[in-house]
Amino acid sequence: MTIREYLAEQTKLIDAELDRLMPPEDRPPATIHRAMRYSLFAGGKRIRPFLCLESGRVIADGTPGLAAAACSLEMVHTYSLIHDDLPALDNDDLRRGRPTSHKVFGEAMAILAGDGLLTHAFQVLGQLNGVAVDRRARLVEELAVAAGSVGGMIGGQVNDLEGENQPPTPELLESIHRAKTGALLRVSVRMGAILAGANDEELDALSRYGEHIGLAFQIVDDILDVEESSATLGKTAGKDAAQHKITFPAVYGLEVSHRMAEQERERAHAALERFGARAKWLRELADLIVHRKA
Ligand code: IPE
Ligand code: IPE
Ligand code: MG
Ligand code: MG
Ligand code: MG
Repeated sequence: MTIREYLAEQTKLIDAELDRLMPPEDRPPATIHRAMRYSLFAGGKRIRPFLCLESGRVIADGTPGLAAAACSLEMVHTYSLIHDDLPALDNDDLRRGRPTSHKVFGEAMAILAGDGLLTHAFQVLGQLNGVAVDRRARLVEELAVAAGSVGGMIGGQVNDLEGENQPPTPELLESIHRAKTGALLRVSVRMGAILAGANDEELDALSRYGEHIGLAFQIVDDILDVEESSATLGKTAGKDAAQHKITFPAVYGLEVSHRMAEQERERAHAALERFGARAKWLRELADLIVHRKA
């Protein structure tokens, strides 16, 4: 089985679990549940839930609550995309191949759909079946910190926006990318490992893997914004340069950016060494992240 086939199979499992966890579309107030589901089921790559599932599987088989925890990450990620696209942020019309949430539901409902997804993620973690209360609390804290303003996603988004008017330095670039994208990818790996009962050394190794693929992921996102079309990406291409974003291609040029993504891929592989064959899919996912075209 290729990684693409495996990812497609896992996506079905993740989507079924997401459907089970989300309020139905007709649950009042129906508008918000329609909006939350519209963005959630628009066909994302499901990289974060996949990372959580696979990281858990590297440590142990059959961990209770793993699929639901994985879905909480996709809820937070989807909220971040809805808000990232708002007119006050990146002002985008296209996401996951569809009109953005605010284009369909209006700005107020898009803001609330994001809020709803974020909040629901923590409800899901609080209610994880078959997981001890202290472990649930640990997951809640891990996700809150990664999505938060101190070194987490919100902090990174703030630096990304404020960076639009600043000279693009390598230091600012790396701190933006580690926070706005890297933190959520890293915690995806950590949450799977924690849930499956990883020891400190295992968690450290998987966290390092998460950091390297996290950085690689956003380097490639920046490269694709330059090299690919909106049709291929399912989101507006060429926006970073138009909005004077601090990106890897802006700071280093495309050729060096490609090389840096490759270097992060190799470092991610090295971090997995101790897990041998069990980490096959995590290894191949690192390759896919760096070699993807969308
Ligand atoms: C896009 O993330 C936003 C970034 C953090 C760069 P993805 O490329 O994972 O988007 P989806 O989930 O597949 O739509
Ligand atoms: C978005 O980064 C990161 C988050 C949503 C936290 P980008 O602004 O580069 O993402 P895209 O390119 O719009 O998907
Ligand atoms: Mg942005
Ligand atoms: Mg954006
Ligand atoms: Mg981007």
